[in-house]
Amino acid sequence: MLVIKGGRVIDPGVRDGIYDIVIADGKIRGIVESATGAVPAEGVSRWIDASGKIVAPGLIDMHVHFREPGYEYKETIATGCAAAARGGFAAVCPMPNTDPVNDHAQVCEFVRGRAKACGVGVKVWPVGAVSVGQAGKELAEFGELKAAGAVALSDDGHPVSDGQLMRRALEYARGFGLPVISHCEELSLVGPGVMNEGAFAARLGLAGIPNAAESVMVCRDVALCELTGAALHIAHVSTAESVRIVREAKKRGVPVTAETAPHFFMLTDEAVGLYDTSAKVNPPLRSMADREAIREGLADGTIDVIACDHAPHSVLEKEVEFDAAANGISGIETSLGLCLSLVNDNVLSMAGLIDKMSMAPARILGKPWGLKEGSPAHITIIAPDSPWVVNAKTFFSLGKNTPFDGWELSGRAVMTIADGRVIFDGLTA
Ligand code: DOR
Ligand code: ZN
Repeated sequence: MLVIKGGRVIDPGVRDGIYDIVIADGKIRGIVESATGAVPAEGVSRWIDASGKIVAPGLIDMHVHFREPGYEYKETIATGCAAAARGGFAAVCPMPNTDPVNDHAQVCEFVRGRAKACGVGVKVWPVGAVSVGQAGKELAEFGELKAAGAVALSDDGHPVSDGQLMRRALEYARGFGLPVISHCEELSLVGPGVMNEGAFAARLGLAGIPNAAESVMVCRDVALCELTGAALHIAHVSTAESVRIVREAKKRGVPVTAETAPHFFMLTDEAVGLYDTSAKVNPPLRSMADREAIREGLADGTIDVIACDHAPHSVLEKEVEFDAAANGISGIETSLGLCLSLVNDNVLSMAGLIDKMSMAPARILGKPWGLKEGSPAHITIIAPDSPWVVNAKTFFSLGKNTPFDGWELSGRAVMTIADGRVIFDGLTA
């Protein structure tokens, strides 16, 4: 039996106060007001002193790339899980752009099998592909993927360019109760672009990607969502226009949800500096006006979820010319520290932030979650003000590609618990 003692327990919308949580046999056995001192010492194998800390439902990152099968030199499921646990995440959703693509049951089962075998304990909920080979031509077998454990469908990394295929995907997914996660990118507008279109790109002599390359697809997908009534989730929202479109759609009752990533509310295209490939990401870092619009979208509920789009790459793919470099940021170990700045900046309350990093993804994915007596104990303990310095060299992730290296952050996960097991312990370590 484990007891988490004296922490500020935040279960968004349910409770916020000082409680002791009793965990046994992988489940939450009791949540009692600390002041009562009612937890008997008998049978307790570990008291975890959480005073001054926040005790939250286990964080979920619903958008990560773990690269296995096929690109194990960038990340394996084992290294990805270790990095996730350290980042405070009890569950993650790896995207299907592996080799082979996760477009059939065997790949889904393989991913889940590797997650189990690696022994870290992070819950791994794979996202299946929308189309066979993510080639955008024919739909994958959604029923087979769901039976093998897929929790959503996405061609992430690539847009579903064919509108008719996207319509059918939404209709088909609806029948299985699976959300479709859309990577919104109109490739003809991206053209040769490698960073945000604007003054910085012009000065660097790099081809730009306009905001419209994202927002026209958000528009199309919202229209298809309205047509089909299927659950649509917009991945990695980066522009003010996308926020506005989703906001208006939600007002009309369209069943659309959206996520953004920490780099979009922390950085702008200025971070590209002098061709810094660690700031090359797709969609690209945008303008200050976009950054502010993303913050507004988070604050007013337009953006439901924060997911980091953890995209580890090797030095071979990043230490090259900007045009040739791979897109992506290794983000899972910095996500929470960056997100906590939203609370200090008064963009979100602590409960609001925790909702976007745990309960909201669980709701979208149809997973029971939260700090309830009798439920599996998935818990993240957060030291909200603990200062630390990002050092990519020390990442558990194989991907050291981050524009946040050397940043001083305030707040981090000090313990991650999944199914009642401590899977990351930064308290005694
Ligand atoms: O920057 C990105 N990296 N954006 C994507 O859509 C894909 C991802 C990756 O797989 O590396
Ligand atoms: Zn992605």
